[in-house]
Amino acid sequence: MTTVSLSPNGDFLTLDLSGQPCRFHAIWLRDNAQDSETRAPGNGQRLLALRDIPAETKLVAAEIAESKLQVSFAPEDKTVEFDLSWLAANAYDKAAPMEKGWLSEGVEPWDSGLMSDVPVGDFQDLAKGGPALRDWLGKVTRYGFGKIENGPTEDGALFDVVDLFGYVRETNYGRHFEVRTEVNPTNLAFTGLGLQAHTDNPYRDPVPTVQVLYCLESSAAGGENMVVDGFAAALRLRAENEAYFNVLAKYCARFEYAGDAETCLQSRRPMIELAPDGELIGVRFNNRSLGAVNDVPFEEMASYYAAYRRLGEIIDDEAMEVTFRLEPGEAFVVDNTRVLHARKAYSGAGTRWLQGCYADKDGLWSKFSALSAQFGG
Ligand code: FE2
Repeated sequence: MTTVSLSPNGDFLTLDLSGQPCRFHAIWLRDNAQDSETRAPGNGQRLLALRDIPAETKLVAAEIAESKLQVSFAPEDKTVEFDLSWLAANAYDKAAPMEKGWLSEGVEPWDSGLMSDVPVGDFQDLAKGGPALRDWLGKVTRYGFGKIENGPTEDGALFDVVDLFGYVRETNYGRHFEVRTEVNPTNLAFTGLGLQAHTDNPYRDPVPTVQVLYCLESSAAGGENMVVDGFAAALRLRAENEAYFNVLAKYCARFEYAGDAETCLQSRRPMIELAPDGELIGVRFNNRSLGAVNDVPFEEMASYYAAYRRLGEIIDDEAMEVTFRLEPGEAFVVDNTRVLHARKAYSGAGTRWLQGCYADKDGLWSKFSALSAQFGG
């Protein structure tokens, strides 16, 4: 049975949710009221600014009836109702996270063990939307990457993949870019060399958060694709040497790309990015575009480089990688803020033609949440 009690001065109430006492402040409850004067009934957007709510807002009454909490506020003399399930889902009376590098619920780090269970979707199924698309997007949000099979093999098919969940992010490389051997490469990605696993374009601010790579032709030997979970790599670094993790999170690196006369992209961001409360939210790792790091104090630069070296060794460890070959009509989607990708070297014989483009992960997460709300899960 759920009970509620007010604090003596009405600053907060305590709700007993299934034996778990949760406190909610008067001002928080008032600002989050769900009534039609506070929130627009159609789109749910808040109609009030905080300045419209008295700073001295108190709770003067609270009671529970039929899985709803009814509360009254003074001095407004206003009474509103909350669903108990909504309050349970938004309860904030919990200990602040203490450890640096915690992961949000639903994010699962992985290593080469995921090779036997690569998140895969069939393009024909995904294109129908609904639960199949929800399930595949759910895996992409959980693991930071997903493969697609059985797609069309025509020029521009990668846009059909983006259409499943969002919109293309156009850059100076165009709406999409071609990945195949070129005689005069302006970027090492366009040659047959193998590449160290990396996140793309860390020199952009904001960085492209999703990359799609789509295979149209593949008869050259080699050229397997490989992905590494940057979160798992960062957490392994933390487990091995916390000072290494901390120095890469504390200081910004510099990234840059000036591959032609029209382009001079630069960013100043850390290799391991934490939210202010310590959540691990991003990894940037790209040896080709690391600029001169000059924001680390002299006394810590040697440690910074040792940490950078060790992170690279962890990323290069085969125990961390999942490899797969993309056949024509197959693609992969990566969360470029988390999962590094690479290509093994391939020979010049035969052809290998891929097309790549960027998109944004807020759209991908939005599609997943909307489908989950619609179809459950
Ligand atoms: Fe790349």
